[in-house]
Amino acid sequence: MAVGVFDSGLGGLTVHQAIAARLPDVPLVYLGDNAHAPYGVRTSDDIYQLTCAAVERLWEEGCDLVILACNTASAAALRRMQETWLPEDKRVLGVFVPMIEALTERGWGDNSPPRRVAVNNVALFATPATVASRAFQRELAFRAVGVDVEAQPCGGVVDAIEMGDEILAEALVHSHVEALLRRMPSPEAAILGCTHYPLMERAFQAALGQNVKVYSQAGLVAESLADYLQRRPEFVGPGQVSKFLTTGDPKRVSGKATQFLRRSIQFEAA
Ligand code: DGL
Repeated sequence: MAVGVFDSGLGGLTVHQAIAARLPDVPLVYLGDNAHAPYGVRTSDDIYQLTCAAVERLWEEGCDLVILACNTASAAALRRMQETWLPEDKRVLGVFVPMIEALTERGWGDNSPPRRVAVNNVALFATPATVASRAFQRELAFRAVGVDVEAQPCGGVVDAIEMGDEILAEALVHSHVEALLRRMPSPEAAILGCTHYPLMERAFQAALGQNVKVYSQAGLVAESLADYLQRRPEFVGPGQVSKFLTTGDPKRVSGKATQFLRRSIQFEAA
């Protein structure tokens, strides 16, 4: 009864951790495509091909349901996968919608017309590919009116995290936040629209100031998965074993994962 969790690299571990805490009895197979990270500077076609290959690999592990714990893949590939590629008996879910539902105070399946919500000025931090897709703004427009979104493509942050360079990652976070605040001086909410960024959440909060509510996805995605599995339990696949797979060097990736999550995580070759 396993569920797959996919990311280009280490970022999806933030989502994996929250799912494991929320659904402790469900085996989880994590796949990090570290050999091809970062996705955020790739073309949509490239992201689509890599994501499909990764999801197929997770099917081999008995995961009929795969969470794309990657905003870049959710923004650039998910819709095309669902519309043109996904077989009837499989499901792939992204990480965007649960966060937008939280921001717009909606429960699952609330398809009522867009309405005014509590926040008016939202800062979005994401990879260049996610920002370019405008997927966040599109999903938001289905649910809310009058929300001004200022998006900052945070070039370099994912690379720094994947390299294990926390000092560089922190410096980049500060400079991206400063750049955004020059364009939107007083956001009420900030979205960490890349699953790598919660690993640097303290740096984002420090640079934004305590008055800005920072939304990160992990808990929201875990909650929404628990809700989904209650409604559609048939999509828990036949896999029995939890594991961490990587397309990169397992020893190196295990070291970086352990550094960022501050607990021992052992990867095996995908
Ligand atoms: N964690 C991925 C995301 O949420 C990072 C993408 C990348 O590899 O650039 O967007």
